[in-house]
Amino acid sequence: MNSKFNFSEKNILVTGGAQGIGFEITKSFLAAGANVTVWDYNLETLDNLKKELSVYAEKLACAQVDVTDAKSCNAAAKSGEFDILINNAGITRDKSLAKMTYEDFTQVINTNLTGLFNVTKSLLDQNRFKESSSNKRIINMASVVGLYGNFGQSNYAAAKAGVIGMTKTWAKELGRKGFTVNAVAPGFISTPMTQAMPEDVLKSMVDKVAVKRMGTTQDIAQVCLFLSSDEASYINGTVISVDGGLTI
Ligand code: NAI
Repeated sequence: MNSKFNFSEKNILVTGGAQGIGFEITKSFLAAGANVTVWDYNLETLDNLKKELSVYAEKLACAQVDVTDAKSCNAAAKSGEFDILINNAGITRDKSLAKMTYEDFTQVINTNLTGLFNVTKSLLDQNRFKESSSNKRIINMASVVGLYGNFGQSNYAAAKAGVIGMTKTWAKELGRKGFTVNAVAPGFISTPMTQAMPEDVLKSMVDKVAVKRMGTTQDIAQVCLFLSSDEASYINGTVISVDGGLTI
């Protein structure tokens, strides 16, 4: 095992796990001995994930699932039994309020907010969390934008603020059933999502980060590992910002 954490015997579901932050979370849990299932809608990146992580082939399962589609989630949830769910899938469609279309708005809400509801509900409805597991975990990927807002991201900020509200609600509802539910709020992380931004915007964002660098996918994956560990069993209903001091 190649990790300071030990998740052998644990089953993890990562949505949007085929690239970016989700890929790193998948890799990190595999390195810590876990069995990981990835739900992602992109077949090409799923194939790439399988190739890149072929050394873990026996512990990695992949399914093409669209989190915006409750039927797709319910069908995929027919198999598997999980200790930990990482709701990570997300998209952006950035535009100022004046330019944002109704489609831009609903696509982002459907993926980044309703998607988390669809996935989590499909697992709960079908009793797919291990009854015997005393440390069940749900980690929802939010964003500092959900706490502070951001120019050009009405849709994304609304969805991520909704994720934070839903996280706190689930923490209250599911605590007695052996779950903790927390949100991670990344700042500015280097992934295909942010690489799509113009160079000058990237530079001006980095200038605002106290530690003067973009975050890495490892910065986020390590926090997910900690929140999933037995040591974090009294952290519930909180939002952990991982932003290098962007928002102070
Ligand atoms: P990414 O674009 O690199 O990866 C997102 C993954 O989600 C992709 O594999 C994509 O295929 C999958 N996905 C998207 N829509 C889906 C759907 N409907 N069904 C199934 N899978 C779907 O994005 P990145 O940067 O890795 O972001 C991951 C999460 O972290 C997202 O929730 C994002 O909002 C959040 N985040 C990212 C930040 C960043 O700076 N990169 C900052 C704050 C939050």
